Amino acid sequence: MSFSTPADPSATVAHATLHILHLEDSELDHRLVCRALEKDGLLFSIARVDTLEDFEQKTAQQAYDVILADYRLPGFTALDAWACIAQRASQPPFILLSGAIGESAAVAAIQGGIADYLPKDDLRNLVRVIRRALEVFQAKQAQAQAARELAASEKRLAQFAEHLQTAIENERAAIAREIHDDIGGSLAAVRLDLSWIARHVSHGETQEHIQTATDMLQHAIGASQRIMLSLRPAILDQGLYAAIQWLAESFQRRTGIKTSLATRNETLHASKAIELTAYRTAQEALTNISKYAQCSQVKIDLSDAEGVLTLEISDNGQGISSAALENPKAFGIRGLKERAKVVGGWLDLSTRQGAGTTVILSIPLNGADTSPNEDDFQ
Ligand SMILES: Nc1ncnc2c1ncn2[C@@H]1O[C@H](COP(=O)(O)OP(=O)(O)OP(=O)(O)O)[C@@H](O)[C@H]1O
Ligand SMILES: [Mg+2]
Repeated sequence: MSFSTPADPSATVAHATLHILHLEDSELDHRLVCRALEKDGLLFSIARVDTLEDFEQKTAQQAYDVILADYRLPGFTALDAWACIAQRASQPPFILLSGAIGESAAVAAIQGGIADYLPKDDLRNLVRVIRRALEVFQAKQAQAQAARELAASEKRLAQFAEHLQTAIENERAAIAREIHDDIGGSLAAVRLDLSWIARHVSHGETQEHIQTATDMLQHAIGASQRIMLSLRPAILDQGLYAAIQWLAESFQRRTGIKTSLATRNETLHASKAIELTAYRTAQEALTNISKYAQCSQVKIDLSDAEGVLTLEISDNGQGISSAALENPKAFGIRGLKERAKVVGGWLDLSTRQGAGTTVILSIPLNGADTSPNEDDFQ
């Protein structure tokens, strides 16, 4: 059994015919209600029921825009009727239209979800009360709809972020493969030929040119290896600790900032997707430090204590202002947060101006690995 809400709720307050269900055992009182509604020029259709069974049946069969209910009926009260429909997915405004029921009962009824209460001797205000109840009802419907749309849109965004990250990693891996197979292969062949030529010519000036070309070639080979490593961190094959150690050492060499890495478990192991997330987090955090922190020291801590992979990267630099964090064009930290979510983890940021920044990635390592396919990101 289902109950539907008005087809077009915005129409009900204004011009459309209102479908009203009246729970009332007195025919005379019912007629008085009809007259009050007619007097105010309301377009309406009304049905009367006076037993709980009929009430339940009617509300299950047809959609009403509003329910008016006498409080005390033979063998039951309006609250029993309300209880019949209160658990359904949606109910129209339910207005108590009754003789004196006492203020505390009226308050309790409204707290229980009943829309309003109007004494029977105040029927001239009936249409006004109905309109107000409908307006409140529509506002609540709109709010619920907006909340549903927001939740759906957040879900779509999270799925898109996940898709994007997988696509980016796959693309990076493909480019790294191309560089390795095409450029790397050709450069290695040229190096062999150059060394063959060097062995077979004795002319001094030619030898000098061969040496310059070999140096340039060596430089190109080094650069392509560096690009490959940043595109697809092959170093991860040696484990997360080794990969982050490599990142930390090259960061220290490049920036001159003292960088230390601590762990209690150098052989800690997680799924490929989790390890790649941790690696990319360390990479982005170190890039941010070199760009903005102006610090003299970086500490990295890696742990898998209590079944949670934790990676902490702290600097003793200038900290991040809240304005910088809200910069709509900055995607690094936002991207890391999304990335952590994809593998069932989260990212915390602790920072104070002048007192440094700490980025903390936490990912539970329990069996229920929600991370993308192990084969991704190869
Ligand atoms: N370790 C840090 N110390 C000081 N400021 C930082 C640090 N990390 C980030 N910030 C500040 O926080 C902002 C947001 O960083 P985020 O990584 O999200 O974006 P970005 O680095 O500016 O751009 P993107 O990463 O998208 O290239 C930065 O612009 C910077 O002002
Ligand atoms: Mg950044």
